[in-house]
Amino acid sequence: MAKPVSIEVWNPSGKYRVVSTKSMPGTRWINLLIEQDCRLEICTEKKTILSVEDIIALIGDKCDGVIGQLTEDWGGTLFAALSKAGGKAFSNMAVGYNNVDVNAANKYGVAVGNTPGVLTETTAELAASLSLAAARRIVEADGFMRAGLYDGWLPHLFVGNLLKGQTVGVIGAGRIGSAYARMMVEGFKMNLIYFDLYQSTRLEKFVTAYGQFLKANGEQPVTWKRASSMSEVLQEADVISLHPVLDKTTYHLINKESLATMKKEAILINCSRGPVVDEVALVEHLKQNPMFRVGLDVFEDEPYMKPGLGEMKNAIVVPHIASASKWTREGMATLAALNVLGKIKGFPVWHDPNRVDPFLNENAPPPAASPSIVNAKALGLPVSKL
Ligand code: DGY
Repeated sequence: MAKPVSIEVWNPSGKYRVVSTKSMPGTRWINLLIEQDCRLEICTEKKTILSVEDIIALIGDKCDGVIGQLTEDWGGTLFAALSKAGGKAFSNMAVGYNNVDVNAANKYGVAVGNTPGVLTETTAELAASLSLAAARRIVEADGFMRAGLYDGWLPHLFVGNLLKGQTVGVIGAGRIGSAYARMMVEGFKMNLIYFDLYQSTRLEKFVTAYGQFLKANGEQPVTWKRASSMSEVLQEADVISLHPVLDKTTYHLINKESLATMKKEAILINCSRGPVVDEVALVEHLKQNPMFRVGLDVFEDEPYMKPGLGEMKNAIVVPHIASASKWTREGMATLAALNVLGKIKGFPVWHDPNRVDPFLNENAPPPAASPSIVNAKALGLPVSKL
């Protein structure tokens, strides 16, 4: 028998039992669930990462749906437990769902939700912040100042890279990659090289139009190029930001060999998934190339860093906070709750998971639909006509 897990209960007499494995930002998601007759149980255990056993204990004998986190291992064991408890829905509070075995969910008939459409700009802004911080050595300089080492202006003190006129490389020009590219091109007048299996016509048009605007104003126009391979981006760009999904083709995309092809003073940013980078090879490369800099939001074995990474002055490391703006995190909580609620209530799936604004409008009731169910097709769920 699993150890009991501490919880906080909302609307104890609610008809549907929904469990959230973590407390989430904002209160709208809570209100939306309890207004629709849900009894909500929020796990209040202090430990950050819940085990499969903890979650089985939370699911119990009767559970209609669970809102979970990307740190949890949602595989066959948990979907079997949820299905046995009568559960029909699970939602990650994340856009990524590499912690979820969707085939196992399909086998047990459980809908799997995620939260796209609400974290694009927030995540791109963190990638841009890391790019700037790395280029201008802000974290190193801050540490120097706080350590009382500043004893006067010096010509060589924390000299970094100018971004204007350099090339920004984007691997994976989907929503987040494109938003990041626009920020770097428009904000810092960088030229763009990108690699994506799909042509990003909107992004190309944007850079072309901005280039024409600059030219008309007597400034050097910005340019774009769609690379035919990822290696072309790695070789040509001065700042490279990684935005691919994690799969077999992108696992250790950045490794000893690919690092060796990059410019010695390049900047590498990763706000996608840790295993896209071979972190051991990266630490070695940082040691050998002190002017190569990196900004990492994600790590290969989260929450751990590979030995040596934390000591590298040319690395900026932050704890997976790319989506951590108040608006985005509250929106993610709302979307995750509505994914679960929609399935419980038998609502259809929203027709476009990237256009979720109607669900985020606090002044109107949300549409009667689940905003984003990744296995809707496999489960044959109806799609909203709205
Ligand atoms: C996601 O949503 O997948 C991010 O990694 C966390 O916000």
